[in-house]
Amino acid sequence: MNLIRLWSILSSPVALLAFWPIGPVACAGDVERGRYLVEALTACDNCHTPRGAAGYDFSKRFAGGPQTFADKTYVVRGPNISSDVETGVGAWTDEDLRAAIVDGVGRNYRLAPVMPSDSYKPLTPRDLDAIIAFLRSAAPVHAPLQAPQQRSSEWTPRPMPGAAAAFDEGSLAENSARGLRGLYVASLARCMSCHSEEIDGAPDYQNRLGAGGKVFRNPAGVAVASNITSHPTKGVGAWSDDELKRAITDGVSRDGTSLKPPMSTLAKAHFSKMSADDLDALVAWIRTIPPKE
Ligand code: HEC
Ligand code: HEC
Repeated sequence: MNLIRLWSILSSPVALLAFWPIGPVACAGDVERGRYLVEALTACDNCHTPRGAAGYDFSKRFAGGPQTFADKTYVVRGPNISSDVETGVGAWTDEDLRAAIVDGVGRNYRLAPVMPSDSYKPLTPRDLDAIIAFLRSAAPVHAPLQAPQQRSSEWTPRPMPGAAAAFDEGSLAENSARGLRGLYVASLARCMSCHSEEIDGAPDYQNRLGAGGKVFRNPAGVAVASNITSHPTKGVGAWSDDELKRAITDGVSRDGTSLKPPMSTLAKAHFSKMSADDLDALVAWIRTIPPKE
């Protein structure tokens, strides 16, 4: 082959493509879709991003959460999930990350149930990859986790009924009118894991879905999760769609007063970013929860 011919091959668009560097950063997931899911629904920052006076400290995004979660069997903190190789998850494969996010599998142990993998189980393969792509797009932050850790693998997974396995992208689009998307949004945003009454420390989705009663203690005080079933007086059955949407996205109750944390903080930092379609689907789905006292 003479030199001129070699040059014309190398400079052709096909040859250029062949030499274009494709590193591990070029993950298949859609980063902007991942940003939407993380910011509006799954709220990973809530437990994995440090906070300053004005809310999340995004200069250290995903470097580890401020809260220590303690229960009978565990004492854990949201670890560094930034792409730092040494102290974060930069060295994890996509497969490792998928296992942590939807199956609660950690480095060489089962993650404590505070990591809400059960709620993330319905993620479609495309949405799960989008979340991973978004995680990898954030700057690596070097921040070792010092908190003492203790955990037990003795716990039963409790996904929401109908949301225990990955949804299929096609049926999610087709069946939106039938509430599948509403259930998807409710599971990813963990509405029912807070708003269902607990039995033995786990939400009783079978009998007490949406009935409320779980108690939250934080520096701001105590809040009890409300009954958001369609009961006309005990629940939100008599609320208008707009009143429900305002509570979800602005953290404002029906009578105009501010809701307490964690609802108000999640509403402002996350649920306010929900798309109109997802919010409509969610509200329609909440209306299908049978009334409970
Ligand atoms: C309600 C709090 C909470 C939310 C929300 C949350 N996590 Fe976690 N996550 C945790 C805790 C706590 C752990 C550590 C559990 C343990 O050590 O047993 C954890 C562990 C992990 C791990 C394993 C890291 C390691 O070093 O072992 C990954 C990966 C992870 N979370 C990703 C995510 C992603 C992605 C999201 C959002 C889609 C998310 N988490 C949402 C609390 C949370
Ligand atoms: C981390 C727990 C948590 C999550 C997640 C959560 N909530 Fe809440 N929610 C609460 C608590 C606690 C209250 C009560 C706040 C108060 O008393 O001021 C509340 C209040 C509400 C109210 C007001 C009800 C009333 O009677 O005033 C509505 C409506 C509501 N939540 C809907 C939702 C929906 C829908 C989602 C999912 C998008 C959701 N919540 C996610 C904890 C949570």
